[in-house]
Amino acid sequence: MAKNAWFETVAEAQRRAKKRLPKPVYMALVAGSEKGLTVDDNIAAFSELGFAPHVAGLHDKREMATEVMGQPISMPVLISPTGVQAVHPDGEVAVARAAAARGVAMGLSSFASKSIEEVAAANPQTFFQMYWVGDRDTLVQRMERARAAGATGLIMTLDWSFSMGRDWGSPAIPEKMSLKAMIDNAPSAITKPSWLWEFAKTGKVPDLTTPNLIKPGQAAPTFFGAYGEWMGTPLPTWEDVAWLREQWGGPFMLKGVMRVDDAKRAVDAGCSAISVSNHGGNNLDGTPAPIRALPAIAEAVGDDLEVLLDGGIRRGSDVVKAVALGAKAVMIGRGYLWGLAANGQAGVENVLDILRSGIDSAVLGLGHSSIADLSPSDLVIPADFRRDLGV
Ligand SMILES: Cc1cc2nc3c(=O)[nH]c(=O)nc-3n(C[C@H](O)[C@H](O)[C@H](O)COP(=O)(O)O)c2cc1C
Repeated sequence: MAKNAWFETVAEAQRRAKKRLPKPVYMALVAGSEKGLTVDDNIAAFSELGFAPHVAGLHDKREMATEVMGQPISMPVLISPTGVQAVHPDGEVAVARAAAARGVAMGLSSFASKSIEEVAAANPQTFFQMYWVGDRDTLVQRMERARAAGATGLIMTLDWSFSMGRDWGSPAIPEKMSLKAMIDNAPSAITKPSWLWEFAKTGKVPDLTTPNLIKPGQAAPTFFGAYGEWMGTPLPTWEDVAWLREQWGGPFMLKGVMRVDDAKRAVDAGCSAISVSNHGGNNLDGTPAPIRALPAIAEAVGDDLEVLLDGGIRRGSDVVKAVALGAKAVMIGRGYLWGLAANGQAGVENVLDILRSGIDSAVLGLGHSSIADLSPSDLVIPADFRRDLGV
């Protein structure tokens, strides 16, 4: 009998991803930095929060649709942009299709393996994510390409600190999938026949290039080639943020905000949204979990722009905790990557369904008819939980 491809939790999707992916690809998704303090706290902090449920007078129907950056979405969850390669041959297109099928907006990384044209065609609710890589003309050209492709919003991620090294080891990722690289990686790939078969069916190997960072008349840079250009680019100022926001002119999210003072600057720069985020624990290790920083930020700027959160979301109840503490919605990273690795588009849909039913259970138990009624009083919050940064 064929094994049931459906999984019941994100943890199970991760177990399957670990079995299915070659080790370097799996480790690239595990990611994290330095000692892993932040990546661990992102998960642990959600476990510190409890619920205060009701038992009777509960609601038969619960509303969870909302709107982010002008896009109606079926639940307060979005796909966070991730620049990863070689997880699945359909990559971000499969993620975009799954998100579209579930009424969820898609963030596409500029380091992604699929082009903005293909992804926006698969999900018209696509936001293009940019880092500050290259000069102003290059940034505008990249942004205009995304606009022409149909991107409905821009996400600027600014919390990257070029942290190198992690205690559990970094994956060896080849610069390009040359014949030599394929032979070098054969031992880890050959033990993963189902992963290999997915690629074999397409007749292609993962090419590890970044099609969204192509400059006119040039080939797509390799992942590391693009990373090198990024490292050589002078770091942006708040004026640069305001400038890019103005060039875009539409819905604009600043991703990676952890402090109240920075959130206020994002308001001043004209941003329409921020994501309280530490890049999934992948940069400055020792940064607290976003869920700890969220309450102070939502209290300070929640009326001025849309406050989102990403980092550590693995279940619907995590989404509900974030919304109760002031987030309009959350974005997920590894959660959907595990689903993609485990079962392609259907795996991402599976993850979104797990989150949806978890949100519904929590809203039901808390006695609400809508996510709009969630508040801190639904939660058990330890006295020392919050980190009010930059107040
Ligand atoms: C493998 C990996 C690659 C990522 N690449 C990007 C990226 O290219 N751009 C970006 O803004 N964030 C990137 N992120 C961060 C995610 O968008 C998101 O902030 C983070 O994954 C949320 O935490 P979670 O994985 O616990 O859900 C990446 C995260 C991971 C795990």
